[in-house]
Amino acid sequence: MLHALDIAGMVCPNNVFLAPMAGYTNYPYRKLCEGFGAGLAFTEMVSAKGLHYANEETNQLLYHASLLPPFGGSTRAAGDRGSVPSPEGNTDPRSATLTCPPPTLGGGVGVGVRPECSSPRPLAVQLFGADPDIMREACESEALKDFDLVDINMGCPMPKIVKNGEGNALMEDPALAEKVIAACVKSGKRVSVKFRTGVDEAHKCTAEFAKRCAGAGACMLTVHGRTREKIYAGPPDYAEIAAAKAAVSVPVIANGGVWNEKDAKKMLERTGADGVMVARAALYDPRVFCAICGEERPPLLPYFLQLLEEEREIYGERFALVFCRKMAAFWLKGTRGAARGKQRLFAAQTTEEVAALSRELWGEV
Ligand SMILES: Cc1cc2nc3c(=O)[nH]c(=O)nc-3n(C[C@H](O)[C@H](O)[C@H](O)COP(=O)(O)O)c2cc1C
Repeated sequence: MLHALDIAGMVCPNNVFLAPMAGYTNYPYRKLCEGFGAGLAFTEMVSAKGLHYANEETNQLLYHASLLPPFGGSTRAAGDRGSVPSPEGNTDPRSATLTCPPPTLGGGVGVGVRPECSSPRPLAVQLFGADPDIMREACESEALKDFDLVDINMGCPMPKIVKNGEGNALMEDPALAEKVIAACVKSGKRVSVKFRTGVDEAHKCTAEFAKRCAGAGACMLTVHGRTREKIYAGPPDYAEIAAAKAAVSVPVIANGGVWNEKDAKKMLERTGADGVMVARAALYDPRVFCAICGEERPPLLPYFLQLLEEEREIYGERFALVFCRKMAAFWLKGTRGAARGKQRLFAAQTTEEVAALSRELWGEV
């Protein structure tokens, strides 16, 4: 079931990917999931227009190892994506620009990457936008120079995106979708597309759209096996994903409703896809990648503390507080006393309080 995947010469150590998730798949979280076994991890969707206007918040979504401080206290060479951030130091590197290395942080050895999963992964960014010129410009920009793969979002159902003709709206204008893909491909980047089975049940067009994407130069496709109308509800449409896989020769990744190793196996068997992409399951428990890779799930606490520290180092106290409260609430779901634990988490006002509470909630010191 699991195997390395070659995407136009970019080799992923396995075919179980972390999905792009707005508000969640920032650099420390991607690194955590890769440490648990994800073969490739996508940034959240990044606005091509935001890059065009050099929006600082947009740039922060692109943080990755080469742009960040050498957490371990040693000098990190550009392109070194394998070493493990340590939890020490408390500088806010948001003051640094992307071209100017942020200050060196404190040292120590962290726990964020299990040794067997520490091989460097390719870097994947997801862009959204519907203007071919601006999309191409984004692909050619300095900000994306380290990324090995640019994924184009053609699945987002959010009204504020769709009404701009972006995200899933591009499935309603396949000629423009092709132009966007072709323009991005002209940049010389590897380009993939993530899309849905269609707008609604009466207008499913997965295989046809897959062919158009591949024809325009996409080297990988991810099919979210639900229509826009369904948003995230219901089981994935295996038959539609299978039809897309049969229609093209580029790798097809199947997404939707993969919550555990059984779902992953079923998805691959029923669709014949080349890999699976996991989204919400990785929010509730990033160790889902261990399970799919056939490995034991290690205790969460040290990973949570590491994540908290890294979020704080990279994005600052306020962001880390809000992000890690949300994350802990996800990770607590289904455990004894989760409701009360969640209440206490959301009352915490500092990351130190969240750390102390997490030690208590996960029953360790
Ligand atoms: C909080 C959240 C944020 C998401 N953000 C993105 C995004 O930025 N880009 C994208 O292509 N899909 C995004 N998605 C959709 C997921 O990538 C995925 O296609 C969807 O959740 C179905 O997979 P699942 O059933 O495993 O959750 C998001 C989903 C969630 C729940």
